[in-house]
Amino acid sequence: MTSKEIRQKFLKFFKSKGHKIIPSASLIPENDPSVLFTTAGMQQFKPYYIGKKNAKEDFGSLNVASVQKCVRTSDIDEVGNGSHLTFFEMLGNFSFGGYWKIDAIKYAYEFITSPDWMNLKIDYISVFAGEDKIPPDSESEKIWKSIDPNIVVKKSGRADNFWGPTGEEGPCGPTTEIYVDGIEIWNIVFNEFYQNSDKTLKPLETKGVDTGMGLERLVKVVQKVPTVFDTDLFALIISSIISIVGDKPIEKIRIVADHLKAIAFIISDGVEVSNVGHGYVLRRLIRRAMLIHHKFIGASLDVNFYKAPVETIINTYPELNEKKDKIFEAIGEETEKFEETLEKGLKEFNWVARTYENEKMNKQELPASIVFGLVTTYGFPFELIEEISKERGMTVDRQLFQNRMEEHKIKSRASSEQKFKGGLGGHSEMEIKYHTATHLLRQALEEVLGENMTQKGSNITPERLRFDFSFNRKMTDEEEQKVEDLVNQKISENLPVNKMVMNKEEAEKTGAAHVFGEKYGDEVSIYYIGDSLESAWSKEFCGGPHAENTGDLASIGGPEENPRDKKPKRVFKIIKEEASSAGVRRIKAILE
Ligand code: ALA
Repeated sequence: MTSKEIRQKFLKFFKSKGHKIIPSASLIPENDPSVLFTTAGMQQFKPYYIGKKNAKEDFGSLNVASVQKCVRTSDIDEVGNGSHLTFFEMLGNFSFGGYWKIDAIKYAYEFITSPDWMNLKIDYISVFAGEDKIPPDSESEKIWKSIDPNIVVKKSGRADNFWGPTGEEGPCGPTTEIYVDGIEIWNIVFNEFYQNSDKTLKPLETKGVDTGMGLERLVKVVQKVPTVFDTDLFALIISSIISIVGDKPIEKIRIVADHLKAIAFIISDGVEVSNVGHGYVLRRLIRRAMLIHHKFIGASLDVNFYKAPVETIINTYPELNEKKDKIFEAIGEETEKFEETLEKGLKEFNWVARTYENEKMNKQELPASIVFGLVTTYGFPFELIEEISKERGMTVDRQLFQNRMEEHKIKSRASSEQKFKGGLGGHSEMEIKYHTATHLLRQALEEVLGENMTQKGSNITPERLRFDFSFNRKMTDEEEQKVEDLVNQKISENLPVNKMVMNKEEAEKTGAAHVFGEKYGDEVSIYYIGDSLESAWSKEFCGGPHAENTGDLASIGGPEENPRDKKPKRVFKIIKEEASSAGVRRIKAILE
């Protein structure tokens, strides 16, 4: 049976049981800010479980079925171990007060075991054992036993046999799961509760059924192949990679195939690469696929590595055809951008590793701060760092790294709130450094060119900063050099970057720079670089976020764990000074 036939059979089966067939929703959930991507078939039906919408009115039926495209990236670094996919399709039947446990279990049993349908043998099923004052689901157990007295029943608590909600709050309840050939293929959820954002449960007025069966897994057991990557949903994509790169580690080839599929679908649902939200996940997927291809599969860094497999993906999923140009264009742009960043990242890594070797520091373990810098600044996947470290006889500590990531998440959550107020786009580590570099540049320009120079605007990406200022002629080479030197001097002085909040009038009196004509609130924050506001070398009205110390601009990790305090030096460099419009000059600069 082909995957296409399996999809059709599923829908046909549930249509024959009085279900209305609903098309897949977008991967980007509508009206649900609690999740980034659609992660389950029930996502588009959430309002029907909680009585906000009426299924009878909208669908003419209380029972519906769908094949929903899903993306799950909660642990993107774990993807690729063989049992995870970032993109998959979920076959699901749903009821919003139409039927309950008996019918839900009977339908599932018939579809899986009947020779007219999937003709599979169930290994065992699982039911909810009860936990946290929620009683065990003995009703489901009884139903299973009445259908098949010999069925093997396993019982688990909340971790395995309780599902939901997606995001912060929503419907949830005990589950019963079906296992075939040792893998879970169908999860049947009985939505009895609503979980509030404070984690308390309240009973739902109308009980609902929510089921999800992974299409790729079902196809794997029906087609009797060893992994989901051997099914007709992946085989051609995998072989299109192999035909180019030859016999390389298959697990890595699978990760690339999986990621490219997710990438194509995410782009086709309208997402563009960026540094926040959906766009950031897309960027990480593209970069991760390219890195893995480069490091484990391809001999050289290849910005075109995706072309043949993506072509095959679009042939496998004809619905992507409409967005073909967009898909190729978006991936191509990002791979080219990443090529540059990646080369820098590998250089940084080699620098650190060589320093350890040359200085005979007998350090075997790569500091968590360096690992962290490689992941957050350059987008290196953790497993790649592990691998290249091993090649140089070094180890990395996953736990320490994870702790640091946790801290970072908390920090960046705080900084994105700040960013919202301050209007700075993006919040990656590198952008934060460029933001501080922009303040240094502004002050240096004022010192070198005089106070006539006024800021007109600025723009930051993880790769560079751009600064516009009014000035009526081209800067001389000598002036450029002076500005560069001054910024680098301040970086090497390791000056603290501080913030102070005060009312606007007071703030204006401090002489802090601000953009003329810009609207500020009654309360403003001033970022100053130096030990005190009075003695600060630079002070500006600004919402942040900023590096903690100018020294951070020169290093990829925290200063504390660098070999003998010799940080990998990064220098500030002006790469362009040009006219932007009449009387306005534009500088582009990088931290190299
Ligand atoms: N919503 C349930 C799941 O995703 C069926 O497993």
